[in-house]
Amino acid sequence: MPSLSLSASLPKSATVHDVPVASDELEGLGPDLMRASKLQGFEGKVGQTLVLAGGADGPMRVLVGIGERSSVDSGSLRRAAAAFVRAVGKHKVAATTLAENPGDIDRAEAIRAVCEGVGLASYKYTALKTGPERPLRKVVVVSKGAGSKAAFEQGAATVNAVSLARDLVNEPGGSMTPEAFTAMARTVCKDSGVKLTVWDEKRIAKEKLGGVMAVNQGSTHPARFLTIDYKPTGAPKAKVALVGKGITFDSGGLSIKTGTGMMTMKVDMTGGAVVLAVMSLLNALGVKVAVTGYIPLTDNMINGDAFRPGDVFTARNGKTVEVLNTDAEGRLVLADALSVASEKKPDAIIDIATLTGSVSGALGVNMAGLMGTDDALIGRIEAAAVPTDEQVWHLPLPVEYRKQLDSVVADLKNIGNGPFGGALVAGLFLKEFTDGVPWAHIDLGMSAMADSDDGVKVKGGTAFGVRLIAAALEAWS
Ligand code: BES
Ligand code: ZN
Ligand code: ZN
Repeated sequence: MPSLSLSASLPKSATVHDVPVASDELEGLGPDLMRASKLQGFEGKVGQTLVLAGGADGPMRVLVGIGERSSVDSGSLRRAAAAFVRAVGKHKVAATTLAENPGDIDRAEAIRAVCEGVGLASYKYTALKTGPERPLRKVVVVSKGAGSKAAFEQGAATVNAVSLARDLVNEPGGSMTPEAFTAMARTVCKDSGVKLTVWDEKRIAKEKLGGVMAVNQGSTHPARFLTIDYKPTGAPKAKVALVGKGITFDSGGLSIKTGTGMMTMKVDMTGGAVVLAVMSLLNALGVKVAVTGYIPLTDNMINGDAFRPGDVFTARNGKTVEVLNTDAEGRLVLADALSVASEKKPDAIIDIATLTGSVSGALGVNMAGLMGTDDALIGRIEAAAVPTDEQVWHLPLPVEYRKQLDSVVADLKNIGNGPFGGALVAGLFLKEFTDGVPWAHIDLGMSAMADSDDGVKVKGGTAFGVRLIAAALEAWS
């Protein structure tokens, strides 16, 4: 992955730089380039690029579309920067001027968007590749305005946080165990000035995290439960809890998944990775609310002692749960984490999880489902989805579906009665553990992974939600 740097002017070392072009300003290119654009189908639309040859020893240029000047926003600049970096992958040093004359948008916002576009689109999981790395070593963001440096640093910090989460997600489930995740969290929390507390399997039992223990029963890797604390400088504006599903691999357990269904299930700790990444960003962004992150970690496996369909466990809050499908495991570990979070009486809880496939049946793979009990909190997350371009859609928690969770033998069962509305039933299950604290639930479903490079997404784990949640916390006042 290339490093990012900031410069007040085009650096001599760059063998290529961009020329941002608005779709309603093509005449500004002059007759030669206008002709070339026309013949090559370049119209200045967001995400379009046209590579131009350079002089004998001058840099090459790439026309980069930014759409209509009046509608330039952080989303279009981010996507334009992503398209630029994809077009120049063969160079060693590239420079972008996309943040120089953005239009109506704030310069700081423009710089952050450009950093994110460049950094996220050039992300690559290389840990297990033995071949040579891609050539692009450095991308220089050109901006000379006041405040550029602070904005650049926030953009770069965001890229690092998302890359960290993607690395965690992309690492195979066989090595990204609860212990390995915890070891990573130790380093990350130390480096970013937040406080980590680790509960091991003994403490988990002592704390009565029955859901975590039930899911972990069939595993050879002990479970972990992480708590991460961030305190702002000055009096906090509010107290917010984040909860992330950390299933390091989901085989389905005895209700085993199909081979295809299991193929991508190393992504099932995306919520946990997102929470860790957000926690690592809070100091860099100067967030004004106090935040505590909770990450229950276990894989969902099948040794001789795995929990069985029909088994009943007692959750942290004392409710008994009948497990009728061991593949609905995420809600069991989240139940305990939500209880622990709500005991501290925060002003709000946000959980994020690859909880159901069903949510993607409703919304497709580019959008997360958003549910919850508090309209103001839902509104904050919806508002953060716009500038970050991490889209969510508010789904209901219909009270009349709650009876699907009634169990004959226990207080609750862990699945509904049929194949429909699975994301909503899962949301209703989680609600039982929030104890009246204002709560929002983000179900990522398949938006946790990308099956091709697209905009700022790179095939593999997307770490969807890092920028969304960070933006919601940043805007909190
Ligand atoms: N981790 C899966 C959900 C999932 C599937 C996320 C595909 C992303 C992509 C979860 O643990 C699960 O298996 N959910 C089941 C619930 C069902 C058994 C009630 C589902 O959605 O099918
Ligand atoms: Zn599952
Ligand atoms: Zn799962």
